[in-house]
Amino acid sequence: MNDDAIGVFDSGIGGLTAVKELNNILPNENIIYFGDTARVPYGSRSRETVLRYAKEDIEFLRQYKIKMIIAACGTVSSMLGNSSPVTDMPFTGVILPAAQTACSSTRNGKIGVIGTPATIRSAAYSKAIKAISPHVKVIGVPCPLFVHLVENGYTNRDNKITILAAKEYLEPIKAEGVDTLIMGCTHYPVIKDIIADIMGSDVKLISSGAEAAKFAYNCLIENELLSDRTEKGKNTFYVSDSTELFKENAKSFLGHTVDGEVFGSSIGEG
Ligand code: DGL
Repeated sequence: MNDDAIGVFDSGIGGLTAVKELNNILPNENIIYFGDTARVPYGSRSRETVLRYAKEDIEFLRQYKIKMIIAACGTVSSMLGNSSPVTDMPFTGVILPAAQTACSSTRNGKIGVIGTPATIRSAAYSKAIKAISPHVKVIGVPCPLFVHLVENGYTNRDNKITILAAKEYLEPIKAEGVDTLIMGCTHYPVIKDIIADIMGSDVKLISSGAEAAKFAYNCLIENELLSDRTEKGKNTFYVSDSTELFKENAKSFLGHTVDGEVFGSSIGEG
């Protein structure tokens, strides 16, 4: 048993998909979240830069008492590949958890993956899927505008700009006949309704952030690290840009006010 917090980080608000799921399945755990909002997006940067940012994000979380780290960012996870930047506590990214769920979900052996340009270029999801199910066909498409649209609040189901961008990215994947689509960037579930409207109800959408949270739950059990706290756990958020902007965006994302204190931190360059 361990009462330390679970550390979660992302380049922005996308990692809240993991926090939301953690709050559902592990309501008594404390969460410390870092969103590098001053340096989002990571997905258009080089591997070296993304890995440097990830290292700094992890160092930031390590100032606090944490027992596990979740890289709730598809871009960071795909740059890391199979390597873990942390050896003294459990760590997970989003790739393997989402790949496992997609492989057990597909019936026709065709899985779509959408992510940032860096994530799709790395082919990390494709490699992880093929390691589990070698015969599955993987169709990966980068969606460079999605993170910007989400971070700027263009998230309503009827938002014309986001619908237009989504059609451009998703119609080719739909035409391939996938029955499962991994939202490989943790920002994307924020526009899940738009994605679902285009893909149709027969296509199962997989949230990489939520899958990482479920994976973390199992890691904590295996390592006997669950808290035995009986009261509700606390969320604490740190962001490298404006706390007000984060609260505003998080609200449109979560559908309610962010549940926890939000602090600014000086890690970002912006
Ligand atoms: N949520 C991050 C991801 O999953 C966004 C990446 C970015 O900042 O470009 O990839």
